[in-house]
Amino acid sequence: MAANRKILSLPGDGIGPEVMTQVGRVLEWFDKRRIASFDVSEGLVGGVSFDKYGTPLTDETMKRAQECDAVLLGAVGGPKWDNLPFAQKPERGLLRLRKDMELFANLRPALVFDALIGASTLKPEVVEGLDILIIRELTGGTYFGEPRGITTLPDGTRRGVNTQVYTTPEIIRVGRVAFELARKRNNKVCSVEKANVMESGVLWREEMQKLGDTEYKDVELSHMYADNCAMQLVRNPKQFDVIVTDNLFGDLLSDCAAMLTGSLGMLPSASLGAADSSGRRKALYEPVHGSAPDIAGKGAANPLACILSMAMMLRYSFDMKEEADLVETAVKNALATGVRTADIMQPGMKRISTVEMGNVVLAEIEKLS
Ligand code: IPM
Ligand code: MN
Repeated sequence: MAANRKILSLPGDGIGPEVMTQVGRVLEWFDKRRIASFDVSEGLVGGVSFDKYGTPLTDETMKRAQECDAVLLGAVGGPKWDNLPFAQKPERGLLRLRKDMELFANLRPALVFDALIGASTLKPEVVEGLDILIIRELTGGTYFGEPRGITTLPDGTRRGVNTQVYTTPEIIRVGRVAFELARKRNNKVCSVEKANVMESGVLWREEMQKLGDTEYKDVELSHMYADNCAMQLVRNPKQFDVIVTDNLFGDLLSDCAAMLTGSLGMLPSASLGAADSSGRRKALYEPVHGSAPDIAGKGAANPLACILSMAMMLRYSFDMKEEADLVETAVKNALATGVRTADIMQPGMKRISTVEMGNVVLAEIEKLS
């Protein structure tokens, strides 16, 4: 059996724990079958961490995240914590993980499973066979730029500031990830910004073009303004292969792309740092969906995005391509049996719970192996 892989599981808030439990079952399956063993330990992040420790992420949990091979995260946030001061909000826990681990490249694939074509709000012919990858810069831009804050002006009114800022190295390192991944796909990169109104966008465009011209001549590079990209994503999403964009535009565009697939409940993500000398990258894997407080604890959540995030972990952190394929195919086959959680329910299909979806995925994994 291969050496232990150290995973820190941070289920978080809302539906996070429920979907993460299903991920745990799949990891146990690999363990029991002696395919791979995982050393999984748990921690708190988000509102649950605030409730216990008064902070959405303790230094101790941060340290454990730095030391493990991969972090698996469920979801953070909820109305219970909405009125907390900014620094204590559940979301700050997630943002600190991203920033302190330097997870600058966020991979958000949007893939339409055949069985789910009808679940999309778009026409079947627009989304059928869709397979695009959004790469969102994750540690810079408006999310972290300085100066930031709210100040009171002499006349008593207030001023809120955030700063959109990017440097050449920040653009190039995420650009490289985009070009490299495009080479393994359909060899097309579309770089997205607002160079028509923002200097940071002008720089982004120029640096991407330079990088393409010098290191990736074989990859087809195009540029698009972010507003047009949002429009093109719903007009004709299949024109894209890899989209690379900044933190804030990537946040918006990936939600938009998610909905092409029928449900946010289906979208996984990987957040990767730079490779060290041994080729190891820090990494965090999480579903794109939020904590869905309205359905938390009801057994109604869709665990597939979290399971697919785990599959991305197998692929990117542990180089277990076959096992990642196995999990992804099992998810595809599970959907083909006609079972659905509430979020992707369609007429004539069978509505099942979170745990039942876990059962069906495990049964399909069993069948395939
Ligand atoms: C996401 C989420 C986060 C973000 C929140 C929870 C901080 O929307 O991962 O897309 O804005 O990045
Ligand atoms: Mn988001």
